[in-house]
Amino acid sequence: MNGEVLTLKVAETADREEFRQAVLDGLARSPRAIPAKFLYDARGSALFDDICGLPEYYLTRTETSILRERAGEIAALAGPGCALVEFGSGSSVKSRLLLDALPDLAVYAPIDISRQHLDESARRLGRDYPALTIEPICADYMVLPALPAIGHAARRRLGFFPGSTIGNLEPADATSFLRRARRLLGEGGALVLGADLKKDPRLLHDAYNDSAGVTAAFSLNLLRRMNRELHANFNLESFAHEAFYNSEEGRIEIYLRSLCDQSVVVAGRRFTFSAGERIHTEYSYKYDLAGLEALARSGGFTVGRTWTDPAGLFAVAWLEAIP
Ligand code: AVI
Repeated sequence: MNGEVLTLKVAETADREEFRQAVLDGLARSPRAIPAKFLYDARGSALFDDICGLPEYYLTRTETSILRERAGEIAALAGPGCALVEFGSGSSVKSRLLLDALPDLAVYAPIDISRQHLDESARRLGRDYPALTIEPICADYMVLPALPAIGHAARRRLGFFPGSTIGNLEPADATSFLRRARRLLGEGGALVLGADLKKDPRLLHDAYNDSAGVTAAFSLNLLRRMNRELHANFNLESFAHEAFYNSEEGRIEIYLRSLCDQSVVVAGRRFTFSAGERIHTEYSYKYDLAGLEALARSGGFTVGRTWTDPAGLFAVAWLEAIP
């Protein structure tokens, strides 16, 4: 086994152990809950890419159109010689809109937990932007890592957190993420943040209950992952995807609901489910502009500019670090 393969194997074993612990803890607690980050194994990530192209899932295309239209303004606010740090970069599709517009970028530092995603997208970006310095950082963006030296030397550090991923964090976690980002970006730092907005609950409902059933497949894939990685025996036919908008909390809530009384073995432990019992898998918080402003302040930023689409579905905000 060569060194690289060994490193990957060690990382895989650590990931699986983290998943096992989180699932056993999450199924033992009441109400049951498994953190959303475990939805993104290879199949889950591919299904999420499919979700982004669904007619009901307005978020991706709306944010992309705002970024496309406003990239010049963002670049003017950023100025030359920035280090661009992307949190949870995935395949870096949206970052290209900024890379195309930002003048004399010092470095692009995508942070992603998936080594495979990082390497593939760095290779593609290197081919398309031969003059760009790319410093991929393999890390959980919730545990913000140190930046490479070149990032510190840049005139300004600009963070990029698109996709409304902030919405998957509960408010206290969103605040602590922003505080850590503020520390990493330093004095004069700024953050381009994408956030989904509150709107007609029917539109929100449809975005998470698409007619093709892709979102349901994405949720149920968590059971499939447990079957494969934790030797569980979930019957996917006896659980259903449930997603609804909780207007009091301003969030979409997503669960896997047991359709009958049943018991399941996961990693050698038996869990019983009564009909109707749920496992919580995701929150997706929706903001209004005042809520976004309050969130930014709680994390050490002020909102310098906010851009929305004509229908007011989605917001891209330019946040500035409070000195
Ligand atoms: C990744 N995140 C912003 C998505 C969302 O809209 O909250 C995850 C998602 N879950 C189901 N559909 C989309």
